[in-house]
Amino acid sequence: MESLGMYPTWYVPYIGSGWVMGITGTIHILASHTSIGASFLFALLETKAYRENKPWLLDYIRRYGVFLLVFSYIWGSVTGPGIWYSTTVASPRGISGLIHNFVWVWATEWVFFVTEVIGVYALVYTIGKVDPKTHLKLTWLFAVASLETLLLIIGILSFMMWPGGERWYRTGSVLDAFYNLNIFAQMTMRAAFMCVAAAIVGSIVVAGVQDRAQRSEIARFIAKMGFFGLVALVPLFYWYVQTLPPTAKIILAARLPAYTPQLLIGMLLLIGLYLAWLAWKPSWLPAPVASVMTVLLLLFGLWPEERARESLRKPYVAGQYIYGNQVISRDVPGKGIKAEVRAIQEYGLLALHPFVPADLKEITPRNRLEAGRMIAAIACANCHSLEKTGLLRPLPAKFGGTTDPRVVRAFLDGPLYTGAIPYMPDIPLSEKEREALAYFIAHASERPASLSAVEAKPTGSQ
Ligand code: HEC
Repeated sequence: MESLGMYPTWYVPYIGSGWVMGITGTIHILASHTSIGASFLFALLETKAYRENKPWLLDYIRRYGVFLLVFSYIWGSVTGPGIWYSTTVASPRGISGLIHNFVWVWATEWVFFVTEVIGVYALVYTIGKVDPKTHLKLTWLFAVASLETLLLIIGILSFMMWPGGERWYRTGSVLDAFYNLNIFAQMTMRAAFMCVAAAIVGSIVVAGVQDRAQRSEIARFIAKMGFFGLVALVPLFYWYVQTLPPTAKIILAARLPAYTPQLLIGMLLLIGLYLAWLAWKPSWLPAPVASVMTVLLLLFGLWPEERARESLRKPYVAGQYIYGNQVISRDVPGKGIKAEVRAIQEYGLLALHPFVPADLKEITPRNRLEAGRMIAAIACANCHSLEKTGLLRPLPAKFGGTTDPRVVRAFLDGPLYTGAIPYMPDIPLSEKEREALAYFIAHASERPASLSAVEAKPTGSQ
């Protein structure tokens, strides 16, 4: 092997590229999930309006629709390309792997997405202007198109977790990738969450309904939908856990922040109480309270959940064959992909990486620190901040803040070299590379954080 198919490394100090993706993704998920949940809420509520002859329900749908246009569609459209941008530079091979499997799935999803966006505009602006039956059909069309975008995207997201068996590695077929072990559990779990998100965000709009009786009726309707989602979430979560790869189960049991279960249970209880309150006394629910609840859902429900899902996928970024640091871990005959770990062991990471400056290909006592920094940026920074005060599992802290390169070396020579840790990639660096990396990490613990920043220095001039 002459070189690895690697791309330049995007390094984000302190928070790591992982958090950039995480923050963008979490906002996107709230916007997109609320919108899909709301599309069903609209369809059900409008069916009720039609059957029970309560046209005033349409007024709520219109107001919630306008709110969505501002809230979901603007934030969703800002963060959607943001996810593409950040994942493409943070994890180019992960994205490439997904595109090589799912390009037509994505294209199909886009068609539904366009239908969804046109649908929400048409729905909002034709209320009261076309006959009710036609409008009802439009609302259901919007709901179905929205749901379709979810189904297609979850096929891709769940493949990221793992295909769930050996078949796809042999066939490389898009259907084997799409209908993986995790897809239905993840799909239904997210659908349940969508009901919750639509109810909570919808309660912001309920607060603006002036007529008390009408407000109560709508509040009860959306609270019921929220409860339905909340109750369904619990068994669906257990099902979801059953469909995770063995490595994820180890992380779930041992490596998530200790407060994760309490936080998620606390959030479930809080949402349950809130929905009960919404159903019982909707007139006591001013819009600011409902808005605070939305923010809490984002910060204490979605963010830890999304972080956990990212952690559970470790050490891979997609399909259990691309490591988080972009190295290919195994052969995938169905796609003509070859494992790279042994080549790294044999020739060295710096020597094989096409974007390493020429004067770092060979490690010498003079360039040792710079070479160590480069190795850390390529091999570790996708999952670890390099600064001691970094937020993403900072490497100096993971080594207990040691300033002794020998302590670091022992880890690099031992578990990391042999691939003995289930949640970390197998990283068999060459002798000189381990020495340089150990030197750099020990140094990063010693000095203030600025040292670690990988500002693509003109290394040739050193
Ligand atoms: C694909 C992601 C990923 C990459 C790449 C990665 N690590 Fe880790 N590492 C983890 C995870 C996950 C943990 C678990 C600890 C946590 O979550 O805080 C961890 C933990 C550690 C620990 C603490 C020991 C332990 O078992 O908890 C050390 C030390 C460490 N990593 C060093 C490194 C070094 C050095 C590199 C680069 C050569 C590296 N890691 C690359 C994901 C990664």
